[in-house]
Amino acid sequence: MSSVAIDLAAVNKSYRGKVVVNGVTFTVAAGECFGLLGPNGAGKSTIVRMILGMVPPDAGKITVLGKQVPAHARLARAGVGVVPQFDNLENEFTVRENLLVFGRYFSMSAREIEAVIPSLLEFARLGSKADARVAELSGGMKRRLVLARALINDPQLLVMDEPTTGLDPHARHLIWERLRSLLARGKTILLTTHFMEEAERLCDRLCVLEEGRKIAEGEPHTLINEQIGCDVMEIYGGNPHESIELIRPYAQRIEQSGETIFCYAPDLDQVRKQLRGRAGLRLLERPANLEDVFLRLTGREIEI
Ligand SMILES: Nc1ncnc2c1ncn2[C@@H]1O[C@H](COP(=O)(O)OP(=O)(O)O)[C@@H](O)[C@H]1O
Ligand SMILES: [Mg+2]
Repeated sequence: MSSVAIDLAAVNKSYRGKVVVNGVTFTVAAGECFGLLGPNGAGKSTIVRMILGMVPPDAGKITVLGKQVPAHARLARAGVGVVPQFDNLENEFTVRENLLVFGRYFSMSAREIEAVIPSLLEFARLGSKADARVAELSGGMKRRLVLARALINDPQLLVMDEPTTGLDPHARHLIWERLRSLLARGKTILLTTHFMEEAERLCDRLCVLEEGRKIAEGEPHTLINEQIGCDVMEIYGGNPHESIELIRPYAQRIEQSGETIFCYAPDLDQVRKQLRGRAGLRLLERPANLEDVFLRLTGREIEI
């Protein structure tokens, strides 16, 4: 088996003259969890659709499980499980019927599908829901059913477009735990997300996208150390201009996003001292995270 699961080289895609994927290159190694991280409209789903052979690139080269895509997309897809951005389950069918119908796409016999359904349902924590109609399931259960469905042909690669968007925190944690167990079994996962925390927790490596361009790539902790490298204080309330003037001498960098000031400083004690006694301020000190990396890379920052 090749050690490369997905390879994109200088891939471009435009819609009606607007470039939505701009020279994107990355390689996903077999067995890793690779994240495409970016805000809405960054081009994540378009990249996923090109990897799945649903949309042809305008330029560049895509290889999935050793097969050229889109030319040999059908062959490649035999080893890929897909969790699309929006659930496309049959609402009036039961959980079991959904799996039966889907297995047929992979030319599995009813007997073969029946044989794997119990373990898939157990994996998805849906063991008691086999005969429930999809319309009766919660959002988290539906998402886990789509995940179970994606595993029906025992794929080596899972491609998941925003697996946890719209879920409550409990449902999201359950999906994360299930994905980690798939990684422990040696599966490769490509996922897209706009949740920095999701990317930071799950991904071995990730590619940060903005407006169709790759703006950073690497291991989450390496990106955080390289781009930020110190702790952060979030400052809300009060008069932001006054706060910035007070902390400026002690900050390595200051950024403002909405009503929050982000102060990056080697010595946050000094920053706290400057703000002591100021009315209406709320301060939160924390380690740097991917959100800080994104704020920095997208240039939403005050130069000091
Ligand atoms: N089929 C399409 N036709 C026209 N524009 C599209 C189409 N699909 C996506 N786009 C545009 O491409 C850009 C990237 O979209 P998408 O890949 O869905 O981003 P993301 O998944 O990161 O939110 C957006 O500006 C979107 O409007
Ligand atoms: Mg999308």
